[in-house]
Amino acid sequence: MDRRKFLQASSLAGAAFAFGARPAWSATADAHVEILLDESIGTIAPEVYGQFTEQLGGVIYDGVWVGEDSSIPNVHGIRKQIIDRLKQIHVPVIRWPGGCFADSYDWRDGIGPRKDRPTRTNFWADDPDARRLKGNAVQLYETNAFGTDDFIRFCHLTGAEPYLASNLRSLPAMAFSRWVEYCNSPAGSTTLAKQRAANGSADPYNVKYWGVGNESWGCGGNFEPGEYAEEFRRFTTWVPHYGVPLSYVGSGPNDNNLEWTNGFFEALRKKNYMPRELRGWSVHYYTWNLSMGQTNDWVAGKRDALDFDETGWYELFLQGLYMEEIVRAQWGLLGEFDPTRNIKLVVDEYGAWYKPGTQLDPTHLLGQQVTLRDALLTAMTLDIFNRHAEKVGMAASAQLINNLNALFFSHEDKFITTPVFHVFDMYAAHQGAQSLRANFSSPQVHYQRNGKPATLAGLLGSASLSGKTVTLTATNPDLKGPKLTEIALRGSAKIASAKASVLTNGDMHAHNTFERPNVVQLKEQRVEVQGDRLTVMLPPASVSRITIQLV
Ligand code: AHR
Repeated sequence: MDRRKFLQASSLAGAAFAFGARPAWSATADAHVEILLDESIGTIAPEVYGQFTEQLGGVIYDGVWVGEDSSIPNVHGIRKQIIDRLKQIHVPVIRWPGGCFADSYDWRDGIGPRKDRPTRTNFWADDPDARRLKGNAVQLYETNAFGTDDFIRFCHLTGAEPYLASNLRSLPAMAFSRWVEYCNSPAGSTTLAKQRAANGSADPYNVKYWGVGNESWGCGGNFEPGEYAEEFRRFTTWVPHYGVPLSYVGSGPNDNNLEWTNGFFEALRKKNYMPRELRGWSVHYYTWNLSMGQTNDWVAGKRDALDFDETGWYELFLQGLYMEEIVRAQWGLLGEFDPTRNIKLVVDEYGAWYKPGTQLDPTHLLGQQVTLRDALLTAMTLDIFNRHAEKVGMAASAQLINNLNALFFSHEDKFITTPVFHVFDMYAAHQGAQSLRANFSSPQVHYQRNGKPATLAGLLGSASLSGKTVTLTATNPDLKGPKLTEIALRGSAKIASAKASVLTNGDMHAHNTFERPNVVQLKEQRVEVQGDRLTVMLPPASVSRITIQLV
């Protein structure tokens, strides 16, 4: 079927939708988007646009933290440029101190005068890349220069809510309870509140979000789901609230492991224990296996962040889009145990994970370059979260700086933004908006996968409404085809004006470096408005945001 016939067929097929009279699409457009203004899916929780930081490689040291005596511009030791950029994207929540590090971390090591803080072996000291580091690198021997008070200050400076991950594997429940007390007990009330005051804050931190362990099926203890449920009960029973509405996030599955979710909630149900503070069920999904079905080996399945061909471009998206299936399946199962839907999915680790070798500095363990391809993957992921706004309550890209799906790279006094930062910049407009049902229709993209034909949706995205502003975000993964896209609004409102910005580059490998920091950056794109329609050209290999003002 040629393109014109396909378009006619798809608009005819559309006539069967149950939404009443559909707009007559222009035959010259390559793709169409219909936004249903009166069909809200739910509010997009701002926390879906969260970030993740771990005491790992170059994330904190050389990344967030430069130290109070540094000549690099800083606020109380925190790199000023990262504060400014996080404010720009309205970062809503930041998770810390891990990741796997969290289950080896004693929060008491990181408070008080820095000179008195102990040095400990970092969880990541045995990572193959860590073993190549020389001497007493902080990546191997954690100095605890950055601790709870520093992290909370970082959150206050950026406007983010703190999300603390507790140590369930190697500390008792009492240590968790005491951490809550240190953070939240009222000024002057307890010994820990006085200690907090001595460390700079008489006022409580009122931390709401608490992760109860991390990857408890793996680095967080290698538990069976029933065993983890038992620990979870011990940790969360009768923790004082200090007037703060605590939200616990349980350590959920790797990928789409339904046995883990089922086993955990079955075990809680048997004990008739379902605390109302259990508001989140974490999901970790990394897009790492680009072997096209050749292996499931964690090392052999990975590919390079920079060295990829057209198949590698499309394959990343095919694997990454599995996120939607995970969200649907985990949510469905959750409903069997939580029919009132108190518990939301918290996708607090996601992004591409490539083989090592492209990090900007050897100390940046799990560091990798971030290309335009990663920007599209991140945008597709955020669009999935938006489309499932009633299911996903929080998320965090892994990780903020000098690591995996980084928004920033820094080394000493150098600091740049990556293509992924620009996606968060564009998508910030969705935070707190009403997610709208939207129908995308476009010819599929075809590529060869292991000598067999494979397909990918030709246009993906999401739409939201905040006040009189409609935000539509969309990715065009097609490497060759620009898409003249017609957008129609369904509903009573009229369009006052529209504008668009686009992130793209003629080279699918395009990325920013310290030497060339602006290779991938946002550009304005022309939008034509005609009545209740808009037309915009979405370039090949692009992420776009179209902002529509209603009368
Ligand atoms: O983000 C890197 C690591 O990936 C985290 O420490 C861990 O939770 C996950 O396995």
